[in-house]
Amino acid sequence: MTTLLVFSFACGDDGGSGGSGGSGGSGGTGGADAAPAADAPPTLSEVENQVLDLWESVRDEYEGYDKPPYFSGDRYAAIGTSPHPFSSYFINSTFSGDLANAPVGSVVVKVTYGAFDAADPVGYFLMKRVAADSIPSDWLYGRVNPGDAVAAAFLDDGNFCSDCHAAAAGGDFVFANDSVAELDALRATRIWQDLTTDDAFAAWEQPVGWEGDYVAGEPGPPHSDYVRVRVSPEISADLSNGYPTNSFIVKQAYANDGDADAVEFVVMHKVDSYDPDNQDWFWANFNPADGTVNAAGKGAEVQACIDCHATAADGDYTFINDP
Ligand code: HEC
Ligand code: HEC
Repeated sequence: MTTLLVFSFACGDDGGSGGSGGSGGSGGTGGADAAPAADAPPTLSEVENQVLDLWESVRDEYEGYDKPPYFSGDRYAAIGTSPHPFSSYFINSTFSGDLANAPVGSVVVKVTYGAFDAADPVGYFLMKRVAADSIPSDWLYGRVNPGDAVAAAFLDDGNFCSDCHAAAAGGDFVFANDSVAELDALRATRIWQDLTTDDAFAAWEQPVGWEGDYVAGEPGPPHSDYVRVRVSPEISADLSNGYPTNSFIVKQAYANDGDADAVEFVVMHKVDSYDPDNQDWFWANFNPADGTVNAAGKGAEVQACIDCHATAADGDYTFINDP
């Protein structure tokens, strides 16, 4: 077997490849004072070799692995502060057999894509549980680019990957294994950020029959009287294609016709396999002034949303599409 190694210690090409210096960790790269001969090929460090071994052991198998429960569908928009735009997640049987403990040998593979419907990955992010107490967090981290080039490798405490992953405290550094409440909160915050950065959502279309900035809605709580509804580009304005996975509906609501400031900012987001009993909607209610999350997810805090919207059964839980 030959494996062509192309070294690309790309720092920050998408922010995910080792922003603090590409390959790091206890192995080092032979670096500055090793002064390699002019034409000598770069030498893989010990840690990079561990990542390469890991990649070679999972490369042809990971598609058959289980998925972590929170990401049990095919592809997801990034949540939290992850710089990777869209991803699929896989866990080996050692991990899926004992999620609570992540035994030594547990492996997680995150396959990232530049677009929701892109065919080819832009990178593979790997974590493997190593011998207990070998390092404080006991995870080997690696990024491999398409073509099998190791782009980042870490096996030390406080590295670029683990610095961020430490935020997944409830999941033992694995976000996909954190509590549903924590992940829902991360997702809500990320939705607000993605939708409102440069007012991205303001360019979206309004559904047929709901055009206008102050459409008289159904009066009364919880929604206010004048509504402004927009749908993300995956949804056709006449709603004839329904609500594809990863699409969004945003409703701003106003107390009076012509008011400058919304009193409400609510979102419905279709997420693969998220809540099969209720059409896989993720619900979110934000403070329109600053994006504070008032309620989000599929649980008790949004039960009222679900119960009321379920009455629009023929509209896939939406009133804009309820005949
Ligand atoms: C700025 C924060 C951040 C950095 C840096 C980061 N990640 Fe992540 N990573 C996340 C988040 C958030 C998720 C979960 C959801 C997502 O993908 O949006 C995640 C998911 C993963 C997963 C799937 C398991 C899990 O935790 O859910 C792997 C594997 C992974 N990252 C590996 C890496 C590796 C390897 C590096 C370093 C090269 C890295 N990550 C750097 C934030 C980060
Ligand atoms: C008591 C019923 C009721 C509750 C509770 C409710 N909604 Fe609505 N919602 C409506 C109605 C009716 C509309 C149609 C537009 C209008 O008249 O305001 C609507 C419209 C929407 C829309 C636009 C898409 C559509 O269905 O037409 C979104 C997004 C939305 N609601 C989100 C939420 C969220 C998030 C919650 C919970 C925080 C929630 N709603 C709670 C009744 C409700």
